[in-house]
Amino acid sequence: MELIRLEEKHLPEFLAAIKLVMADADMLHMDVDKLYEEAVSDPERFIREQDDPLGLGADIEMPDGTFVKRLPSIVRHMWDGEICGRIGFRWSPGTTNLPPTCLGHIGYWILPHKRRKGYASKALNLMLDEARKVGLPFVDLTTDPENISSQGVIKKNGGEFLKQVPLPPQHGKGEIMYWRIKL
Ligand SMILES: CC(C)(COP(=O)(O)OP(=O)(O)OC[C@H]1O[C@@H](n2cnc3c(N)ncnc32)[C@H](O)[C@@H]1OP(=O)(O)O)[C@@H](O)C(=O)NCCC(=O)NCCS
Repeated sequence: MELIRLEEKHLPEFLAAIKLVMADADMLHMDVDKLYEEAVSDPERFIREQDDPLGLGADIEMPDGTFVKRLPSIVRHMWDGEICGRIGFRWSPGTTNLPPTCLGHIGYWILPHKRRKGYASKALNLMLDEARKVGLPFVDLTTDPENISSQGVIKKNGGEFLKQVPLPPQHGKGEIMYWRIKL
């Protein structure tokens, strides 16, 4: 498995993959419908915004409908001859802090039929190199308290539990766990 930058030729397969994850109960909180709409409505922009190291892309809509400014970010896709998943890294230049609305430096998902092959763990490991390149001494990640799978991915990469706090109101109700990986 490697990380690739999605190209226009991958879009039909990407859209099919998104349809699969849209039907997955574990993904319902991850707003993949919006991702589908973005890829269909403006494919050129969707492809371009995978590399946005200056955070110049459009503002980001929160689950409650409010908008926040986009941070610098890099998005890659897991590839084993087919698209397997997606991983994104975002950061605030010059600081380890993130705005409270941004739930961690790195987020990811794997297609249901590609899980338990170590892909998320490897993808996170590869993305940590990008975090080192921008000079971060650590990255923070978040998981739902019940998301044992994602917690396993973080622990496999040396992550340690930091705290459990209420979700920022823009993200709805409930609690969120913070984890830290030292780089
Ligand atoms: C979480 C997710 C990304 C894990 O992807 P994955 O490629 O299957 O993860 P890995 O194969 O790298 O698993 C790494 C470790 O996590 C743990 N883990 C993964 N899936 C698990 C499961 N279903 N049950 C228990 N532990 C699990 C295990 O410790 C595993 O190591 P092992 O296989 O050596 O036992 C995937 O389940 C997913 O896409 N879930 C929905 C989206 C999501 O929750 N994203 C993260 C948001 S914070």
